[in-house]
Amino acid sequence: MSQNQKAKRISAEGFRKLLSLLRFVLPKKYAFAGGLVALTISSLTTLAFPMLLGDLINLANPAAELERINRIALILLAVFAFNAVFSYLRIYLFEVVTQHMLAGLRQQTYNHLIRLPMSFFSGRRVGELNSRISADIAILQETFTFTLAQFVRQMITIVGGVVLLSIISVKLTLFMLMFVPVVAIGARLFGKKIRGISKNTQDQVATSNIIVEETLQGISNVKAYANERFELERYTTSTNSVIGIALKGARLRALLISLIIFALFATIVGVIWYGVFLVNRGEGLQPGDLFKFILYTVFIGASISGLADLYSQVQKAVGSTESLMALLEEKPEFTTVEESGCEHQLGGELIMEKVSFRYPSRPEVEVLKNVSLSIPAGKRIALVGPSGAGKTTLSALIFRFYDPTEGRILFDGVPSTEIHPACLRRQMAIVPQEVMLFGGSIAENIAYGKPGASMEEIAEAARKANALEFIERFPEGFATVVGERGVQLSGGQRQRIAIARAILRNPRILILDEATSSLDNIAERQVQEALELLMQGRTSIIIAHRLSTVQHADQIVVLEGGQIVETGSHAALLGQNGVYARLAKTLEKT
Ligand SMILES: Nc1ncnc2c1ncn2[C@@H]1O[C@H](COP(=O)(O)OP(=O)(O)OP(=O)(O)O)[C@@H](O)[C@H]1O
Ligand SMILES: [Mg+2]
Repeated sequence: MSQNQKAKRISAEGFRKLLSLLRFVLPKKYAFAGGLVALTISSLTTLAFPMLLGDLINLANPAAELERINRIALILLAVFAFNAVFSYLRIYLFEVVTQHMLAGLRQQTYNHLIRLPMSFFSGRRVGELNSRISADIAILQETFTFTLAQFVRQMITIVGGVVLLSIISVKLTLFMLMFVPVVAIGARLFGKKIRGISKNTQDQVATSNIIVEETLQGISNVKAYANERFELERYTTSTNSVIGIALKGARLRALLISLIIFALFATIVGVIWYGVFLVNRGEGLQPGDLFKFILYTVFIGASISGLADLYSQVQKAVGSTESLMALLEEKPEFTTVEESGCEHQLGGELIMEKVSFRYPSRPEVEVLKNVSLSIPAGKRIALVGPSGAGKTTLSALIFRFYDPTEGRILFDGVPSTEIHPACLRRQMAIVPQEVMLFGGSIAENIAYGKPGASMEEIAEAARKANALEFIERFPEGFATVVGERGVQLSGGQRQRIAIARAILRNPRILILDEATSSLDNIAERQVQEALELLMQGRTSIIIAHRLSTVQHADQIVVLEGGQIVETGSHAALLGQNGVYARLAKTLEKT
């Protein structure tokens, strides 16, 4: 954001990128052309207004013919009617073009974003990304509906206005051109400075708002630590400092605004003064002409000062385009989201060969070191180890969220890099450590494992996941809305929804990242039973924190500090009296 607002000169490259957005206009090019025509006509009719009005005023004398007076008044009315029709067309047509353009841009951005690899997302705050994209798109919307039209209109007003003025009086025009543009531009520059000042205040207000936001989001923490007083003081200090900054700005702003007002009026008085002087000298100028002159001067002055504003708008638009383009230039992990006929049917055998891994966002830490594993199809291995050992990371590599920094992963002997990530993932399922449910019904959340699943399939999956009982206790059953605006489910319930989802998916390879929080005995037994059913006949990797889950595994792998330190069966490892034996003792207690 701050990057966009920084005043920098518009580079040719940046401007070219902005113009390249016009390709999104192509589908509506006739509407766009129509809008430009309507815009030109409505601007020209606006220019006719001072001319006709001045002519009418010139007739304000007893000698004038009534017929001429009536005619000019009627023409004026007609001009305004004309103007109204074309203004309507212009506004509507530009909106048509812009809305289509934005929808295209939004769709392309989202289409691209959703295909970016995990490494892109792990280095960024998603909320920030989201708000940046919507802010950028809003700026572009303003640029294309408003700024572009304003620019064309102001150019027409300035050029047309000066031409018409020279017809009335060349001397007066030259006099006007000496002052008006200078004052208009000066006023705009001052205006910009004023906005800069008020931005400081806004920033400070934003800082205070962050305090409110943070404390309200974590209100249970604030209360649990009885830190209301601390937070109140923090907020008071922050809001009080707004006063100081705002008042300092107010003094400067008051001074600048009064100077601008004075300068503007002084210029207008100057032009009128010189005009009256010319009228009195009898240089063929009539009072009505002077009136035209003043109106055109005001139009031109406003247009010139508006141009400076447009420049800063275009600057912002270039910034937004550049950051959107930067996003669009990020390399997606695969090129198509379509069901590109899965070429590799997984048998279930999984081998890791000397796999080492560092997260792209933290390349200095080696999270996995030289990990070698071999899991025959349909077997079950348990992965245990202290917190931070790299268990979740290992599962992320199997899912190809990331590729190993060194070594390789083979599925049925085929290197993972040769299998399309979507193809791979479609044949696997994960029951993650933290189950995230989407805002929607329970049925929809389960069906996420197999989009388009029938209600019978969903209910059957829920039954197998031991979830049917609690779902049916809700008055609305499967239609119960969960998530932020609905029912909050307990940890064990959420897990069983995730298990149902995985059952629906019917994967060849299954990964269970057991939740660290311990469930009560009944909930644990229910989850356990559901898991047993789910694991049957599939290659399963269980990241376990409970001894009950570990014991029945075909093989236990102990990970510590990113390395495999022990492997073997439960009995064998206990016999070794090593890390696992120690771990088993602590697991037993939970
Ligand atoms: N996205 C990430 N970017 C950078 N480092 C990460 C990322 N995710 C995890 N790590 C780091 O990798 C290491 C292993 O984390 P991981 O989540 O794999 O541990 P874990 O064995 O699953 O632990 P737990 O039992 O607590 O779930 C930790 O040091 C962690 O800080
Ligand atoms: Mg973990």
